[in-house]
Amino acid sequence: MSAPPAFDAGFRDKLGELFAWRRDVRRFRREPVPEGLLTKLLELMQLSPSVGHSQPWRWLRVDNPEQRLAMQASFSHCNANALAEYEGERAALYARLKLEGLREAPIQFAVFCDHATAQGHGLGRRTMPEMLDYSVVAAITQFWLAARAHGLGLGWVSILDPAEIAAILSVPVEWKLIGYLCLGYPEEEHELPELVRAGWENDPRRNGRR
Ligand SMILES: Cc1cc2nc3c(=O)[nH]c(=O)nc-3n(C[C@H](O)[C@H](O)[C@H](O)COP(=O)(O)O)c2cc1C
Repeated sequence: MSAPPAFDAGFRDKLGELFAWRRDVRRFRREPVPEGLLTKLLELMQLSPSVGHSQPWRWLRVDNPEQRLAMQASFSHCNANALAEYEGERAALYARLKLEGLREAPIQFAVFCDHATAQGHGLGRRTMPEMLDYSVVAAITQFWLAARAHGLGLGWVSILDPAEIAAILSVPVEWKLIGYLCLGYPEEEHELPELVRAGWENDPRRNGRR
């Protein structure tokens, strides 16, 4: 067994910077992501916690151009429906937001939770079955931070119809869509979220909310 690593103050400072500069990214440069780096990030993601060690995440890489077009079509009509829920200035502001990088992102993953998995033997899921989904969220978060540490940006797209995405990708009925992820090198780096910079929401760091 190897000795556990010691994490020093310099590492902790850098880790804090990683959290502060993570960002949800919707504007990507087109340059490709090395395959070896993708493999490494997926290996790091596998180290995520999961209820009962169930590891219920299922990552499907979406490269097929027709499937990618279908994702864009799903986003377009879901986003039009979302826009219709707002009125006045809020609607005008919503219409100006860029809420996905589906056309630009070189790498895209649909991430599902496998509700049929036997792994974990049901531990921790009897009274709170949603823990399976939360385990996938944790894995995505770990992947997100690891990607950022390697200079990549990730954008989580949820303005999609899960039934449409499941049909486009022909996944088993027991697989629940948790997130559709766009990945690539970001066009810009920012310390503030894009939605804050666009005036959609305040930054809690500025008004003291926790
Ligand atoms: C579960 C989840 C779903 C999200 N879905 C979307 C989305 O559909 N479109 C989008 O632009 N951002 C989406 N985001 C990103 C949030 O808008 C973003 O995290 C938030 O504005 C804070 O910005 P930051 O991630 O740069 O700190 C999502 C984030 C999470 C955690």
